[in-house]
Amino acid sequence: MESIVLLFERVSFKISLFFSGHDMKKNTSKKNSTVAVIGVGRVGLPLALILAEKGFTVYGIGRNEKKTEQVNEGIMPFMEKGAPSILRRVKGKTFFATVDYSHVVKCDFIILTLGTPIDENMNPVFSQIHDAVASMKQFLRPGQTLILRSTVTPGTTKYVRSMLEADKSLKVGINFFLAFCPERIAEGKAIEEIETVPQMIGGVDAKSGKKAEELFKKIGVATMLTDDVSAELAKLFTNMYRYINFAMANEFMILADNYHKDIHEIVDLVNFGYTRGGVSLPGLTAGPCLFKDGFFMISDLPFADLFLTSWKINESIPHFLVKKLRDTMVLANKKVTILGLAFKAEIDDVRASLSFKARKALLRERMEVALHDPYLKNHSEHRIEKDIYQALDGANVIFVGTNHKEYKHLDMKRVRKIVKKNCIVCDVWNVFGTGKIIFSLSDYF
Ligand SMILES: NC(=O)c1ccc[n+]([C@@H]2O[C@H](COP(=O)([O-])OP(=O)(O)OC[C@H]3O[C@@H](n4cnc5c(N)ncnc54)[C@H](O)[C@@H]3O)[C@@H](O)[C@H]2O)c1
Repeated sequence: MESIVLLFERVSFKISLFFSGHDMKKNTSKKNSTVAVIGVGRVGLPLALILAEKGFTVYGIGRNEKKTEQVNEGIMPFMEKGAPSILRRVKGKTFFATVDYSHVVKCDFIILTLGTPIDENMNPVFSQIHDAVASMKQFLRPGQTLILRSTVTPGTTKYVRSMLEADKSLKVGINFFLAFCPERIAEGKAIEEIETVPQMIGGVDAKSGKKAEELFKKIGVATMLTDDVSAELAKLFTNMYRYINFAMANEFMILADNYHKDIHEIVDLVNFGYTRGGVSLPGLTAGPCLFKDGFFMISDLPFADLFLTSWKINESIPHFLVKKLRDTMVLANKKVTILGLAFKAEIDDVRASLSFKARKALLRERMEVALHDPYLKNHSEHRIEKDIYQALDGANVIFVGTNHKEYKHLDMKRVRKIVKKNCIVCDVWNVFGTGKIIFSLSDYF
């Protein structure tokens, strides 16, 4: 019986992919549903806005009253391309931010977009999901569909199922539906990508999968039906595939350096005109997702060494770069300016950014550290220079932390005038286009 269901799911998976675009008109013409998005963070808020723009009535349920009030006033709490104008259009009409869980009772779909960090021992932390499910349980009713969208350790959707079924009135797959549909957007591009990236629909049973799929079909995006654990794994593998690739690129950089060669030229030699190339470039690889997601899979299988090794390599890069600087000049009592604090280009998210690890390593060298990022006006702990040329004034070292576009278009003549004469640049991202990881500014500009 199970194999028939699986066969059905495989077939419907292909059909969903093929027809979802064509179904769009038909589906959007139906009466739109009411949705609760629990967690109005980097994943939840853009998703809530897109759904509200599509005509769903959406309650974005957070836990911070001040933040939800600001969102209701039309203030985006973080950078997200295209989001501010949608927020202005939908606030108070189809979108309502609130801390009041009782709205859940009115909703057809409830989507959990809560944080899933790791703790100080690198263990996955369930508490946000656990607490949110516990808070909303009294408002759940038969007929609803609960969608888990956070990145989770495999088995978490079943854990949520067991929490739900502790209440005898909810029978998952019969009168209540549950699916894992992971978020796969890249921060900063969420609005565009929610409508274009195919959605994995991991139902805990066939009926739950179909119910969850209905919601995404109404957005008009391609869907792929599968089971919950496969979707949980697919999300983690998506992220780890990228993370391991970057680790490989970073290891290649270290190996090339051992022969006093720069990796950027070597990567060009590998990739140019060669269809089996595709080697990635090095960088400061981290961020709140890639940094932690490997740890969601190693608790049951302590031999998942590839993840751990990749983590070790990627996390070691700031120290590798600082050592290279130390081998080039005496660092103590000199000024270094870190350009870029976000964990990747063109966003304002500093969570798990390696720029801060570099900062610590540079402070340990007894350097004076100035920080700059065009997208960050302030930081709860650190002073951030607003003007880049002021940040660079008197610098002995420029350390590129993030490959923001702005840094590619600096007035290098002006930079040369304001930094110290023998200023050294550490540019793992190659934003200055020299192809060198470490170089003397005056040799190139
Ligand atoms: N940020 C990304 O680009 C991205 C992409 C794909 C997947 N993910 C995954 O999505 C999940 C969410 O990530 P995020 O970056 O949006 O995190 P986030 O911290 O920005 O958002 C989580 C939000 O949930 C809120 N919250 C916590 N407990 C709550 C509760 N009980 N009730 C209501 N709200 C509560 C928090 O205050 C926060 O605003 C994580 O699992 C992450 O790994 C993130």
